[in-house]
Amino acid sequence: MGKLLLLNGPNLNRLGKREPDLYGNETLQDIENKVRDVIEPYQVQLDAKQSNHEGELIDWIHEAEGKYHGIIFNPGAYTHTSIALRDAISSITVPVIEVHISNVHKRESFRHTSMLAPVCSGQIVGLGTKGYQLAAMYFLENN
Ligand code: DQA
Repeated sequence: MGKLLLLNGPNLNRLGKREPDLYGNETLQDIENKVRDVIEPYQVQLDAKQSNHEGELIDWIHEAEGKYHGIIFNPGAYTHTSIALRDAISSITVPVIEVHISNVHKRESFRHTSMLAPVCSGQIVGLGTKGYQLAAMYFLENN
């Protein structure tokens, strides 16, 4: 177990300012720091990337092959639309955990479907930003 990738999709760079009732007050940097705190004692490295562009996320998923032991991925709204991201995840052997800060099942019906969940190892939904840390813990224990 050497390296994890923390990947965030569109609009998640706005965390802290964006709809705090739904997503809380923490920034993406706060989330990254907390994930680092979880993995630090295990000498696991973390790379953290965010993009608002589907193609860039796809490129990073391809590049993850052979480089990371796991990907913690909040795909934002692409979750509900992107067959291309789903195919990218299917094209690599690195396990991916899908994370959502909000409980998408309590929200609009278009958020109830994930294109990606069937090709991910698992999904953590509605536990706030803690979901990212829980995903990291899973990878620490299952690698
Ligand atoms: C989200 C849920 C998505 O439906 C939404 O488009 C987001 C954030 C979440 O973390 O709760 O951008 O992925």
